[in-house]
Parts: sequence; structure tokens; C-alpha cells
Amino acid sequence: MLRGDRIWVGTCENGPVELLPSMSNRHGLIAGATGTGKTVSLKVLAESFSDLGVPVFLSDIKGDLSGMVKPGARSESLDRRLVSCGAVPENFVYKNYPTVFWDVYGEQGHPVRATVEQMGPLLLSRMLSLNETQSGVMNILFRVARNENYDLCDLQDLKAMLVHVGENAKEYTLNYGNVSMASVGAIQRAVAVLEDQGGDTFFGEPALSIDDWLRVAKNEDGTEQGVINILSADRLFNNPTMYSTFLLWMLTALYDRLPERGDAEKPLIVFFFDEAHLLFNNCSRALMEKIEQVVRLIRSKGVGVFFITQSPADIPMTVLGQLGNRIQHALRAYTPLDQKAVKVAAQTFRANPAFDTEEAITTLKTGEALISFLDEHGAPGVVERAMILPPQSFMGAITPEERGQVLQESPLYGVYDDPVQRESAWEKLNKKKEEPPAAPVPRFLLVNGVLRQVVPAEQAREFVQYNGCLWPIL
Ligand SMILES: Nc1ncnc2c1ncn2[C@@H]1O[C@H](COP(=O)(O)OP(=O)(O)OP(=O)(O)O)[C@@H](O)[C@H]1O
Ligand SMILES: [Mg+2]
Repeated sequence: MLRGDRIWVGTCENGPVELLPSMSNRHGLIAGATGTGKTVSLKVLAESFSDLGVPVFLSDIKGDLSGMVKPGARSESLDRRLVSCGAVPENFVYKNYPTVFWDVYGEQGHPVRATVEQMGPLLLSRMLSLNETQSGVMNILFRVARNENYDLCDLQDLKAMLVHVGENAKEYTLNYGNVSMASVGAIQRAVAVLEDQGGDTFFGEPALSIDDWLRVAKNEDGTEQGVINILSADRLFNNPTMYSTFLLWMLTALYDRLPERGDAEKPLIVFFFDEAHLLFNNCSRALMEKIEQVVRLIRSKGVGVFFITQSPADIPMTVLGQLGNRIQHALRAYTPLDQKAVKVAAQTFRANPAFDTEEAITTLKTGEALISFLDEHGAPGVVERAMILPPQSFMGAITPEERGQVLQESPLYGVYDDPVQRESAWEKLNKKKEEPPAAPVPRFLLVNGVLRQVVPAEQAREFVQYNGCLWPIL
């Protein structure tokens, strides 16, 4: 919750532990074993950003973030927690937050769509799990489409374009590089799999306008709250590659769309990336470089990114080093591998002489965490052991009826719900096929038994009729 203009996350022996909004574009990490309180900590942060007027984006894998649409309920155990945090239970406000639900499949929220073109060859290749050679062909396909004015909106367009490139492989190989039929075939099969997994609902139009993630809601008293965008990802999560590529696409889309902003008092939007380890699984080198680059550069556009995962060891060092604000919940240390992960986690903190970081990580209670946030100079604070505040909204999932009502009352109701088809690559390529092939231009014509040469019109001695046309001849 907010305390002045700072985000009060929890309380340690020395008092409140607070995140500076001006430092939240230096990104963050929420780590911990299953059931240790990561989601609740994420909620506490997201609510505070919303109260600051900053919109947020969350991916919801278990459905337990949906409760943000209604107020939390006071209970004895929450009262005890509040007291241990130095808060007065009677004064703690339970409230709901302005929320918009999104869903790639359009089932539990507004459909999120992107065009094949917006996704781009790099991310699309990852979504389709293509190897390097096949990704090369995908690159060529995008270049051909651009040069020949074929718009790539949905998977139908992509499939039509694959056929087109395959049929003219010889010509494109000469101009663009090797287009092997084996690669075209492999991509076609991968597209069919993606379609079966529901990818066809994601690609198309109307494509999402990033501005719709940057909304604020006006309260009756004139104050503003950032809208909490929740991506319902329980189904999407069944396809980890699509899930992680989709979220990466969102980051890149934000990055491409937003202007440079420099450091500011508060971020423009904060993005929470749950199950973040998936992002780095089976990642090509090119993609890894892209992730590092986007995470590094997006900060100057006012976007804060928080990764949520079990252990900091799940995240490559080059990315981990960029996550300045850390909330570490308990980790188990049963196996040597676990113990190694605890060591890695402990080493990412600036030690506090009052306790042993490594030991603390394994003895934290649920809803308790080691925290280190950046200070106003951007330096990491000494690690503190803190009890995390409860969220102000409801902890847990809502019913399908409650969700239905939120969707109906959404300010975006009707904007994205129905797909739109316009003339793109598929339509154009089909039209081309339907047109009768032009009659071949004769070089000679037999006129009254004499062979006559066909020439440009200005050189013609006379014109003769052949095959429904007049031909200039010498
Ligand atoms: N700060 C808190 N205030 C009140 N209750 C909390 C807090 N943190 C955790 N809890 C309690 O612990 C439970 C588990 O927390 P949470 O769902 O956040 O765990 P998690 O780390 O996200 O687990 P998973 O990895 O399974 O998603 C919550 O449902 C809640 O009852
Ligand atoms: Mg969770």
C-alpha cells in the first residue's frame, strides 16, 4: 500500500520497507518456492502502482489474481499480520481495483491479437520452435512479403505466403538466399500445430493497441488509478513456448511504441512476468540477445519489469544483473542443487550484519521475505527481513459470473471482441491464382503462309488479328 508517495511492501525490525516509485523502472525480481507468498507480494506492488496512477500488466496463471476486482475481507489472521507490520487493522482499507481482463483465446477476457507482421520473424520462429535454417527461410518470407506488398495479418496469410514462396523457391533462392523445400515443409507443419493449439485466434485483427494497456480510471473523488490489466493465462500456459513468446512480444511492442522518457518520478507502466524461467528455455542466441537488450533499454521508456520465478538461478546472469529491486521468499534446501540455488540467491544481496542471508532464506515463513530495493541513488539497499503486508483486494479467484460481469462493464467492451478480415496476402494470392494466365506473346505470326515478325507498335508495318488481339508486325 502507499505510504506518502512510496510503496510500503512490508516491515522489518527497523521499520517499513519501501520501494521508491522512481526506481521501479530499474526492474525487479520476486522469487521463492511454491506457496511462499510470491503472488501476494506481486499483488501488493501492483495495487500500489495502481494507486499511484500507474497502469500495470500481470499474467495470471492460476486465476488467483482475478480477485483484484473485489475488496479483500478482514480476518483475524490478517489483523495479526497487520499488527506485526506495524499497521492498525481498523484503519486498513480493503478495496477493489479497476481491472481489465485479457485472454489470447478470447475466452476469459478481451481477445489480444497481433498480426503475423507485428510478431516478426524472430519471435514467430521461436513460437514455431524452428531451427536456424528454417528461421532463415522465415526471414526471407517476411522480406518477400514486404517487397511484394503482401500484408501478413493472420495464419491464413502466412500459409498462403509459404505456398507462394515454395512454388517460386528457385527464383527467391537466387535473389534472397536458400529456400529449401524441406524447410518450407517443416514450417508448414509447425504452423498447423500452432493452429491446433489455438494460435489462429491470436493472429489477426483488430490488433491490440498498446494505448489500451496504458489506461487510467477516474474515481468519483477526482483521483486516478492505473488500470490493472490481467492476462488470463491458465490455458496459454499449457503451451509454455507460446506463453513466453507472447509476453516477450508484449514487451517488444511496448518498447517499439513508447518514446524515450528518461528517469521520472514514477513509471509509465509496470509489467509482471510470472513463471519467468520459461522465457529463457530453448532460447536461441539471437533471441537471448534481444531479451537482454529489451530489458536493458525499456527502462528509459518508463517501463518497469518484474520477473516472478522460483529461484534467481532460473534467470541468466546478464538479465539478473539488471533486476535492481529484489523480494526473495523462502527457498527449500533439501538437495545439493537446492543448496546451490540458495547460495546464488544469497549472493545477489548486499549482506546485513544482523543476520546470515543464506540461513534466513531457508527459514522465512509464508508471506515473509528478504528485501533489497534500490535507494534514491540507484544503489541496492542492505537486505532486510520483512513481513509482507496483506493485499487490499481479495486474495483468490472470482467466479465465472463475476468475471462475466466485469467483462460486460469493461470500457473496452466490443472493441476487440469480433475479428475483422481485410484484403491481405491470402486474398491477394488467391485472386492472382484465379486470374487466367496471360496468353504468351508470340514472336512470329504466320500470315497468309508467310512468317512475319512481331515488333513494338511504333515499328509496325501493319496489324493482324490473332487470339483476340491485334498484333503489330513487320
Ligand atoms: N503477504 C501476505 N499476506 C497475507 N497472506 C499471505 C501473504 N503472503 C502469502 N500469504 C498466504 O499464503 C498463501 C500462498 O501465497 P501465494 O499464493 O502468494 O504463494 P506463491 O509463492 O505465489 O505460490 P505458487 O508458487 O504456488 O504460485 C496465500 O494464499 C495467502 O493465504
Ligand atoms: Mg503464485
